[in-house]
Amino acid sequence: MRVFADHLLRDRHAFVTGGSSGICLAIAERFAEHGARVSILGRSQEKLDAALALLRSHGVEASGFACDVRQYDGMAVALGEARKRHGEIDILVCGAAGNFPAPVLGMSANGFKAVMDIDVLGTFNACRAAYEHLRKPGASIINISATHAFRPIAFQAHVCAAKAGVDSLTQTLALEWGPSGVRVNSVTPGPVDDTEGMRRLAPDEASRKRVLGGVPLRRFATKAEIADLTLFLCSDAATYITGGIYLCDGGQSLGGFGF
Ligand code: COA
Repeated sequence: MRVFADHLLRDRHAFVTGGSSGICLAIAERFAEHGARVSILGRSQEKLDAALALLRSHGVEASGFACDVRQYDGMAVALGEARKRHGEIDILVCGAAGNFPAPVLGMSANGFKAVMDIDVLGTFNACRAAYEHLRKPGASIINISATHAFRPIAFQAHVCAAKAGVDSLTQTLALEWGPSGVRVNSVTPGPVDDTEGMRRLAPDEASRKRVLGGVPLRRFATKAEIADLTLFLCSDAATYITGGIYLCDGGQSLGGFGF
């Protein structure tokens, strides 16, 4: 029988894009609670500093890197520096994302491109640049997706296209990098409370109620629940799992009619 310690990620080093706020900060924090050294990457130094104070309060090493995931060279430098400071990188979480609600006719080509670039190109950049650090058995990549990937949502054409692209990348990378021992999976949250995305998509009580009407569990996810799924997939409890798209959406994507 295998016994899992409290610290599921002891001696691991995790690099988390978008880790200075929201779901990805909750993931970084859960990793820190489980003993991982954590590097986070985000655009705002101010947000990075606040997040680092929280992560270090768990008694682990943590560093922040100010960089836009759309910049490949900056990403490569950040990964190299993270490795110098905290050792080999074992886990990559690609969570930097963009969103704003707009109909297709209210969105310029550049608006569409901004989200595609942050989500799809940003995930590609992080994975591509991280591979030289990750290529070893036991390494794990998690790409943060959304139910948008397979469930069309009006005023979210850019995000739907982008998250479908992210899931496709997950599966292609799992194929290409499986032989090196690198596992690649997507985590797919449904509506998550207290996030920038939810504040943009459901800014008032009426729209929050409408969202919950489509969720069988009739509540939003907490960020911690998404972090727990991510922790599981990166842990030694999931060593034969790769190429999967894992839902944590309260049943939202079933899309059926409840009572
Ligand atoms: N409606 C329509 N178009 C919008 C828009 C909105 N609400 N918000 C931004 N855009 C357009 C801009 O007008 C611009 O297009 P243009 O050059 O043709 O005018 C384009 O999107 C890029 O905007 P910009 O602000 O320069 O891009 P950015 O790279 O600084 O920001 C965004 C990217 C637009 C995705 C921004 O919302 C962002 O930074 N988001 C990060 C945080 C986030 O979305 N979190 C939730 C994740 S689920």
